[in-house]
Amino acid sequence: MRAATASTVAVMTTGLARRTVLAAGRPAPHGPKLPGVRKSPLSTDETPTPWDDVTSYNNFYEFAGSDNKDLPSELAPANLVTKPWNVVVEGACKRTGTYSLERVLDGQTLEERIYRHRCVEGWSMVIPWVGLPLADFIARCQPTANARYIAFDSHYDRTRMPRSRRLPFDWPYTEGLRMDEAMHPLTILAVGLYGETLPHQNGAPIRLVVPWKYGFKSIKSIVRLSFLENQPVGTYQQQEPPSYGFYANVNPAVDHPLWSQATERRIGDFFRRDTSLFNGYGNHVASLYAGMDLMKDY
Ligand code: MTE
Repeated sequence: MRAATASTVAVMTTGLARRTVLAAGRPAPHGPKLPGVRKSPLSTDETPTPWDDVTSYNNFYEFAGSDNKDLPSELAPANLVTKPWNVVVEGACKRTGTYSLERVLDGQTLEERIYRHRCVEGWSMVIPWVGLPLADFIARCQPTANARYIAFDSHYDRTRMPRSRRLPFDWPYTEGLRMDEAMHPLTILAVGLYGETLPHQNGAPIRLVVPWKYGFKSIKSIVRLSFLENQPVGTYQQQEPPSYGFYANVNPAVDHPLWSQATERRIGDFFRRDTSLFNGYGNHVASLYAGMDLMKDY
């Protein structure tokens, strides 16, 4: 087991891992259905976690710090301004520039992807996302041969996210993937939930979803994509490298220094259940990591 550190993320998430009750956040109001959403064979047939839980029990540290699941649903709707929204594309690709959200979505057929969602803190949900394959957008950006990784930045507004200052993070929140992970068919840019527009607390208007990795890789409210030659360092990894590696693949055999990852609490369940390697998506993604030592490259 890796050595325990006393750094911020670990200490502040210890209590969360043991939480059994839902925080009383404010579930998002329902809106109109997104048009033309297609079902996907990549969806699980497990029962989705209810809308009210998915939209009131959230991690969005910019709004809440790390210890409060209910505050994102209370603060994000008023303080996250999603219109207009632009995503800057930069680095090793031919089509750099500023893409409006409308341009990102132009000509795309949205798909429903019902995925398991496993937080590093030890809770999980089943979420019916709506989105588009990240691979489709990457193809439009035309990465060059130098693009081996892709990094993402979240939107950050210090004045509208005052609680973020309680954390010693180097904002904005950032994350990264290897290009083959980013191009994998399971990896999506989500713009909706339950067939409706993505609520602010869930990372509106556009976020990443990588279902075989711990939830912190699924960065919210994306404003920048950078194609890189070298491996980027994400916010969690930068904050506490011994606990959070670059890959962050769900792995019940690799404990967090302060808690076991062998089991998880599905929100709504009383008993914990076993956690599966790659969050149960091993038949799709294990080959991406062939030859790697998953106990070291976590
Ligand atoms: N993205 C940003 N920008 N800020 C965050 O605090 N939290 C991460 C991830 N993406 C986070 C983020 C973590 S720890 C998890 S588990 C998921 O978002 C939570 O997504 P949800 O609130 O939609 O369930």
